[in-house]
Amino acid sequence: MPAPRYAVFGQPIAHSLSPRIHAMFGAQLGIAIDYRAIEAGREEFSARLEAFARDGGCGANVTLPLKRDALALCAAVSDHALRCGSVNTLIRDGAAWRGDSTDGAGLLIDLDLRHGFEATGCGRNWRCLLLGAGGAARAVAFALADPGVLEALVIANRTHERARELAAAIGAANVEAVDWRALGDAGAFDIVLHATSAGHGDASLSLPRSIITDRSLCYDLSYGEAALPFLRWAKAAGAGYLADGLGMLVEQAAESFFIWHGRAPDTARVFDALRRERPLAIVGA
Ligand code: ATR
Repeated sequence: MPAPRYAVFGQPIAHSLSPRIHAMFGAQLGIAIDYRAIEAGREEFSARLEAFARDGGCGANVTLPLKRDALALCAAVSDHALRCGSVNTLIRDGAAWRGDSTDGAGLLIDLDLRHGFEATGCGRNWRCLLLGAGGAARAVAFALADPGVLEALVIANRTHERARELAAAIGAANVEAVDWRALGDAGAFDIVLHATSAGHGDASLSLPRSIITDRSLCYDLSYGEAALPFLRWAKAAGAGYLADGLGMLVEQAAESFFIWHGRAPDTARVFDALRRERPLAIVGA
């Protein structure tokens, strides 16, 4: 019987922090972890995942561009993952995969722990603008729209129709789509979440300054270089608080870890160690 193995699949995957994060969680809790990064594009993913299962693979994370493909490969998925149309956590169940999505929970826990959000409390009165309606935005939008989390969730996307479809799929009274080109009339938001893929390329974002105040939190779901264009814009526009997605990355990993091992790691120690190595350097603003 091969040793239980875990992995993260994606493309590109070489620089993923997930193997380190899971090794640190395992070291904290005395659990030996064999967790690797496996490069796979959409065409190879299914075959590589099956080969991984044959070699003792019993759990996997899935990142770009595979989260929707992962959903299709599962024999069963959680209700939440089904609504998001996205799976980032795979659990081997007999001869099949079961899927879940921990991105939304990871974001809300990071907001709670590090940004004074208390989404699990009552009386939320924040207005939130979610920029984007692709895979990354969908993976968190449903959790943000859960009752009691936010006063209002506004979704804006370059292609307005996709934002409208996402808001309609959520179908909650406090969720609406606003045309990106009309954001100048949408007022200011307490939190602006950037979930487009623009930071991964050379494209620049066109956003009105009026969406933020000096008390707004501007949060990019990416980390590293990809987060910097939006955060530089936010700093120049006068946002009071800036955050990248490093905390969300650690928290969604902890949620996956709990699903596989039934133990909750101390995420603060892991986040602090990674943050020390990767200070959030907003330059050129
Ligand atoms: P991901 O899984 O990273 O979200 P995706 O599903 O391809 O990738 O979605 C990319 C998102 O980034 C979309 O919301 C896309 O807008 P469109 O629906 O109009 O394509 C958005 N996006 C990409 N480049 C952008 C840019 N330069 N400005 C604004 N939005 C951009």
